[in-house]
Amino acid sequence: MITEFFCRRSFGPLYFISVFLIILFYLHTLNIESFESVIQQLPFWFGDSKAVVSVNDFGAKGDGFRDDTKAFEDAWKVACSLPSGSILEIPAGNVYLVRPINFGGPCQSKVTLLVSGTIVAPEEPDIWNGLDPRKWLYFHGLDHLVVRGGGIINGMGRKWWDRSCKINTTNPCQHAPTAITFHRCNNLDVRNLMIVNSQQMHMAFTNCYRVKVSHLKVVAPADSPNTDGIHISASSHVEVKNSIIQTGDDCISVVSNSSVVQMRNIICGPGHGISIGSLGKFSSYSQVRDILVDGAFLSNTENGLRIKTWQGGSGFVRDVDFRNVLMVNVSNPIIIDQYYCDSMLQCPNQTSSIKLERVSFKQIRGTSATENAMIFACSDNFPCMDIYLSDIQLLYSVGKTNAYCWKAFGISSGLVYPQPCLSPDEH
Ligand SMILES: *[C@@H]1O[C@H](CO)[C@@H](O)[C@H](O)[C@H]1NC(C)=O
Ligand SMILES: *[C@@H]1O[C@H](CO)[C@@H](O)[C@H](O)[C@H]1NC(C)=O
Ligand SMILES: *[C@@H]1O[C@H](CO)[C@@H](O)[C@H](O)[C@H]1NC(C)=O
Ligand SMILES: *[C@@H]1O[C@H](CO)[C@@H](O)[C@H](O)[C@H]1NC(C)=O
Repeated sequence: MITEFFCRRSFGPLYFISVFLIILFYLHTLNIESFESVIQQLPFWFGDSKAVVSVNDFGAKGDGFRDDTKAFEDAWKVACSLPSGSILEIPAGNVYLVRPINFGGPCQSKVTLLVSGTIVAPEEPDIWNGLDPRKWLYFHGLDHLVVRGGGIINGMGRKWWDRSCKINTTNPCQHAPTAITFHRCNNLDVRNLMIVNSQQMHMAFTNCYRVKVSHLKVVAPADSPNTDGIHISASSHVEVKNSIIQTGDDCISVVSNSSVVQMRNIICGPGHGISIGSLGKFSSYSQVRDILVDGAFLSNTENGLRIKTWQGGSGFVRDVDFRNVLMVNVSNPIIIDQYYCDSMLQCPNQTSSIKLERVSFKQIRGTSATENAMIFACSDNFPCMDIYLSDIQLLYSVGKTNAYCWKAFGISSGLVYPQPCLSPDEH
């Protein structure tokens, strides 16, 4: 009777599925990360095991001295052509010397690049003669790529930095490689990597859609030129979270036609802070919208939260929300600069500008390294509209901080220090 009950009523497939869903839901309420990892393991439990391809199987030496580029290329070709998913492994404990390389798609199925070891770039910039100087590890046209593994990517940037016109003004200004570029990649997941001493920017996303980045650590010296941590260009639906970035330039920069970009729990410094822009260079058109920074700790950075545009550009930046940010000894904690001019020549005044609207700063606390805690230098012809300030406290150890406004309209609420200088909205 009891057996019959169990056989007929309880242990059918529906029973198992419900128990499974209850466990999943429980994990979900407990901890998002473990929920995600359970979801990721589902294919494994259901027997959809992926082929593992190791660069060592293709002759990579991993001694940090002999050139492993060919092995990486061959391994990629195979991993990318397998029909039911693959893991391309770069094993731990080895150092792989790799010249500029393309990881091109589309692939037959989802590829996971498991970087557990170290990848190093050639030290000598001359290796790039005849090649695109902006690329080193270049991923393009990929869908559902996962990059993870806890390994290290080292751009060996020293000789590039010495050549930079920012370091030695007698040098011509030339491009240098971005350590890792993702171009036209959709549904990308990059996590748990360390990137050090890039030749120029560390990681760039260009024309990508749906990107998740987490648990990155980026490290380069404070005086290394143009070594942005993460650069997001013409991309949308990008989430960067739980990452530490210490470099010589922007911690994260968001430029040209990017939208729906969320940055959460980011630790920056040294560096130039979190930046939207620069935008509008060479009279370009750009639209940037729906940008969120929620949870950041910036220390000893040159700027904190910044929007910078060149005169003469057009388009807009709108719906930007900076919140829950702690700063320590930041030189320009809050700055909107619509007169940005990163050029050896003086930039001429122009009438056209990118238009800024609906930019909010909420819960921003900490210390400024200068008295200029808030700067809103907006365009003469296209003033900043709807700036919103709330709960801001930026102190200066040596004296009072102040706020500067030029053509800046908006309101503030709650305690805001320094005393804000916004004009009431025109409409
Ligand atoms: C700057 O570069 C020039 C030419 O490349 C070189 O002769 C000079 O020694 C460099 N200066 C410094 C300070 O490194
Ligand atoms: C932004 O997009 C517009 C229209 O799609 C394009 O004309 C413009 O060149 C883009 N701007 C940049 C900086 O890429
Ligand atoms: C604060 O920042 C300034 C300017 O970057 C720097 O000179 C100074 O050493 C920093 N102070 C501390 C205590 O780190
Ligand atoms: C641009 O305009 C500003 C303010 O009106 C003025 O101080 C500055 O000298 C002008 N710059 C040039 C290059 O004309």
